[in-house]
Amino acid sequence: MRILLFSGKGGVGKTSVAAATGLQLSRLGYSTLVMSVDPAHSLADAFDLETSLFQEKTSEPFPIDDHLSIQEVNIQKEIKRHWREISTYVVSVLRTTGISDVEAEELAILPGMEELSAMMYVNQFRREQKYDVIVLDCAPTAESMRFVSMPTTLEWYMKHIFPFQRGLLKAVRPVANRISPMELPNDSYFANIQYLFARLDGIAELLEDPKTTSVRLVTNPEKMVLRETQRAFVYFSLHGLTIDSIIVNRVLPEAVTDTWFDQWRASQAKILDEIEEYFAPVPMKRVPLFTHEVLGRERLEELADVLYKDKDDPAAVTRTEAPFTFEKRNAHYEVRVRLPFAVKGELGLFKKGDELVVEIGTLRRHIGLPTSMSALTPTRATLQNRILIVEMKEA
Ligand SMILES: Nc1ncnc2c1ncn2[C@@H]1O[C@H](COP(=O)(O)OP(=O)(O)OP(=O)(O)O)[C@@H](O)[C@H]1O
Ligand SMILES: [Mg+2]
Repeated sequence: MRILLFSGKGGVGKTSVAAATGLQLSRLGYSTLVMSVDPAHSLADAFDLETSLFQEKTSEPFPIDDHLSIQEVNIQKEIKRHWREISTYVVSVLRTTGISDVEAEELAILPGMEELSAMMYVNQFRREQKYDVIVLDCAPTAESMRFVSMPTTLEWYMKHIFPFQRGLLKAVRPVANRISPMELPNDSYFANIQYLFARLDGIAELLEDPKTTSVRLVTNPEKMVLRETQRAFVYFSLHGLTIDSIIVNRVLPEAVTDTWFDQWRASQAKILDEIEEYFAPVPMKRVPLFTHEVLGRERLEELADVLYKDKDDPAAVTRTEAPFTFEKRNAHYEVRVRLPFAVKGELGLFKKGDELVVEIGTLRRHIGLPTSMSALTPTRATLQNRILIVEMKEA
């Protein structure tokens, strides 16, 4: 199974591009699901679906044609299915602060629940081998970063904090519940977390395997948008995901000759050059600004025709180099982290337990070390041709 993840700044065209990609895959005969991971769903709107028709079936995949389905994860339904224990506890805590039930229920939707729910579906569909390709239409960059960092963060939590918390609470609950102003979570809360965690088992490996998952960044030829695209690039790379193309949407077409757009054209040309230079060798695709919104199947197909010529296969695996590797040299071991371009900002490096922590500016990544290397300490880090080389030796 292939997972294609479309991410980018708000409003750049992620949903349109993801939907068009779904149509192309369907035309090629792949059994395809386009899933919206954005709480502010607009996937059904892109297909111009009758909302009432769609909403009845919401949260489940909805067939568009023989090969293509779409799905918008509905968080209210998901809470009933998976998150009951957790949200019940959060609601009970919030109630003690005097917040009304309705508000408490609203607030108990914790950040990240949508992403986690979507990830559980992906994992379930993988196990059932239900689709050849799952296209993920993500929320703007910040949330999609949360989506990909969630499995490793959770793994860390389950390993380091969870057993401790659960054990401690078992011991103190009988006393604490009598004196504490709020109720401590009971054991079913923890059982629920454990159950949810089990449902995510294997997803981190899936996201980090370039033969399965490819990230495609959608951007516009504007400076502000480009900056965010660059940050996203570093972040996804640090998390071990492979970015295999950049899609620049809303490029002014040649046909526009009105002098009103002269400055736009000049600045777009400059940014397009910059994009090409920054992200090389990752290929870039250009999509023109159309004369209309991309709404409905016909318009989406028109976009698919621009993105993919004839039988261009969006599911093809074109980049397989892992963003980081571990190697044994003569006297030491090496961790090599591929950075997409010369990164500016403070570079921090330290060891924490059996993990190597790399910090670039405000971004941070925990890289789990193989057992053979976990007792080593980093001694030197150098940046060579966009590759960060960390030497590890016995202390
Ligand atoms: N090349 C284009 N030419 C004209 N209109 C476009 C183009 N690409 C996208 N649009 C329109 O721009 C709007 C925003 O696009 P879209 O919803 O795909 O962006 P998004 O990145 O998914 O936004 P959000 O961050 O809100 O999810 C839509 O109305 C879409 O039809
Ligand atoms: Mg969208």
